[in-house]
Amino acid sequence: MEISERAKARLTVLSAHLAVSDDPVGLEQVLPAIEPWCTSNAAPHGSLKGSLTIIDERTGKKYQVPVSEDGTVKCVDLKKIKTGKDDKGLTLYDPGYLNTAPVRSSISYTDGDEGILRYRGYPIEELAESSTFLEVAYLLLYGNLPSQSQLADWEFAISQHSAVPQGVLDIIQSMPHDAHPLGAHVSAMSTLSLFHPDANPSIMGQDIYKSKQVRDEQIFRILGQAPTIAVAACLKTAGKPPVLPSGKLSYAENSLYMLHSMGNRSYKPDPRLARVLDIIFILHAEHEMNCSTAAARHLASTGVDVYTAVGGALGAICGPLHGGAVEAVTKMLSEIGTVENIPKFIESVKNKKRRMSGFGHRIYKNYDPRAKIIKKLAEEVFSIVGKDPLVEIAAALEKTALSDEYFIKRKLYPNVDFYSGLICRAMGISHTLITVPRMAGYLSHWLESLDDPDTKIMRPQQAYNGVWLRHYEPVKERTIQSMSDLDRISLVKFPFRMHQQGVN
Ligand SMILES: CC(C)(COP(=O)(O)OP(=O)(O)OC[C@H]1O[C@@H](n2cnc3c(N)ncnc32)[C@H](O)[C@@H]1OP(=O)(O)O)[C@@H](O)C(=O)NCCC(=O)NCCS
Repeated sequence: MEISERAKARLTVLSAHLAVSDDPVGLEQVLPAIEPWCTSNAAPHGSLKGSLTIIDERTGKKYQVPVSEDGTVKCVDLKKIKTGKDDKGLTLYDPGYLNTAPVRSSISYTDGDEGILRYRGYPIEELAESSTFLEVAYLLLYGNLPSQSQLADWEFAISQHSAVPQGVLDIIQSMPHDAHPLGAHVSAMSTLSLFHPDANPSIMGQDIYKSKQVRDEQIFRILGQAPTIAVAACLKTAGKPPVLPSGKLSYAENSLYMLHSMGNRSYKPDPRLARVLDIIFILHAEHEMNCSTAAARHLASTGVDVYTAVGGALGAICGPLHGGAVEAVTKMLSEIGTVENIPKFIESVKNKKRRMSGFGHRIYKNYDPRAKIIKKLAEEVFSIVGKDPLVEIAAALEKTALSDEYFIKRKLYPNVDFYSGLICRAMGISHTLITVPRMAGYLSHWLESLDDPDTKIMRPQQAYNGVWLRHYEPVKERTIQSMSDLDRISLVKFPFRMHQQGVN
């Protein structure tokens, strides 16, 4: 009975993959909607509901502003605080969004002071210990851990969608030989938008994502294709052709297989290293409103197709202050070179000449809980593949920093990226692969935003501080207004222009 039901569900998944039908029923039976318990959990602090009384010292006026159960104040309520009719009202100035919540979310929870991270209420430590990445992805997306048969169907659906359109692989192949693999991954992910026009609201209508089947189809495709694309981008950088995914391996095994098999179908990745990669994937799957997830929600708020939204988010994660830190850490450690050079390096950080990659976090003012797990994993990896000489430098650098007043005062601890880069290096995998699991987080936020009645196009305000008003002057009548105008642009240094001016 169990087998025939599972076979039926698999057939449903397969047929959905072959042809997107209008029937919204099939996959709904395979993948349940978010369980009600996920949204009904009460916060430990209880209700924070109440109101604020604000006295505007400029006018002497008093205002009452409601505070919600979760302790938030609606910024628009402050708009009514004005000095007069020409005043547009108070605006919150928050560069870097230090204290702005653009969404309510039930996907993950962090407490930076306590060093807590939970996915849908589950501590990250428990998930890293006992779960698998695909199980965690299901949890993030659909709100609950899957049953055995749901998990089997889910894994099957993802693996059935792991092949990438040949056109996308061709685009990766046509990139410059020294293209950064992260950049190639970003471009290829956005390009998927063009290969899946059936999922583009601009073409198919703005309501297409109301269908659960259409949503799930995009989730399968993105989670399925992400490792294939990321690995193809890495292989391209190494001058190698892409490798077809294997349907017989787990998500992490398949990633290692594509990366290292050189197309040898009998290649088997080391199961211990595959498990390490799977844990790394779990740790990197989601991290609430970080810069790239915020970017994903920002893009999705326009109604753009999900591939473009996810591609944009991937673009954000490449930066060295975000996911690009994984690569920056290994570069930094190589530059330091020896333990003896650490004091000099620390001095340059304290003198603000450079940042210490892999240290500090917007949220964690304590040890990043993921970093603790990663550090243990690193030891395991080195016991299998041998010690990376950079580890000694990393450990000494961490020890020095954690006992230095500069880092203590600012509560700067190692973050998840500090040891991730070293593990990647030791396992012979590119840091680009670390961006793959974040697809689960982006997609969970995409789903959440689609169902959130508060979703609006994201459009922050600015505090304008430019010239108030001036009038157009014909070019011949304009004068240089200040010395800084003289070198406003460096066009004259361009060879083309120099050539035009007769300069060689
Ligand atoms: C993650 C990060 C961008 C968070 O930045 P943030 O929340 O805006 O924190 P700020 O830049 O305001 O930093 C607060 C103070 O700590 C210092 N600081 C923060 N991270 C630092 C680092 N990695 N090295 C040296 N100093 C750092 C800042 O210079 C600032 O000092 P100040 O008070 O004297 O001006 C920042 O810690 C960083 O650049 N880390 C390195 C990159 C990295 O590892 N990113 C991956 C994150 S998972």
